[in-house]
Amino acid sequence: MSQQKATNITWHEGEVTREQRQQSLGQKGATLWMTGLSASGKSTIAVVLEQALLAQGRHAYRLDGDNVRHGLNKNLGFSAEDRAENIRRIGEVAKLFADAGILAITSFISPYRADRDMVRKLHEEAGLPFIEIFVDCPLDEAEKRDPKGLYQKARAGQIKGFTGIDDPYEAPEQAELILPTHELSVEQSVQRILDLIEQRGLLAP
Ligand code: ADX
Repeated sequence: MSQQKATNITWHEGEVTREQRQQSLGQKGATLWMTGLSASGKSTIAVVLEQALLAQGRHAYRLDGDNVRHGLNKNLGFSAEDRAENIRRIGEVAKLFADAGILAITSFISPYRADRDMVRKLHEEAGLPFIEIFVDCPLDEAEKRDPKGLYQKARAGQIKGFTGIDDPYEAPEQAELILPTHELSVEQSVQRILDLIEQRGLLAP
């Protein structure tokens, strides 16, 4: 689905540079990409992180898997092909936010390494920071939490191809940050992300 179909199209440069946008916003943009099993804590951490950043006067925006699947990606399911397209589209959207000078916080299972690596490459080629955060919660703990009752349904055979049950989750090999959420509070996880942003000088214009 990602091949270039349109022909006779030409890139049209604007008159505002990325640097000018950064100066105007007082920060740089970046993508904070959270990956992990369903119920690992991605969305919960993203909500608190977004709030913490805004309280610091930063500009951040959350892109959440379940939410984006209500709109932009409502025509996609959970086959490997659809998951790849889900991640490709959201990778492109996050890149646009980062280019605009916003901190894009994404929370998608994004189970396949190749799809995440593709989004990383997209950012690298555009000179934009891509920070992969592995929300590392063991399956048995995620299954115990089961806030939406989906693991139970998957175990009962009512959902086919559920990540961690009968569809794979490929853990990152070189994530910039690993959050063992079965050992950390939400606040501790958020603080680790804020510390990383600070250490890397990610947002300083
Ligand atoms: S991803 O694999 O394409 O990255 P995404 O994060 O957008 O997934 O959506 C995952 C959410 O969809 C889960 O949190 C869960 O609520 C729901 N869901 C429904 N069916 C599945 C499935 N087969 N596998 C994983 N999640 C599913």
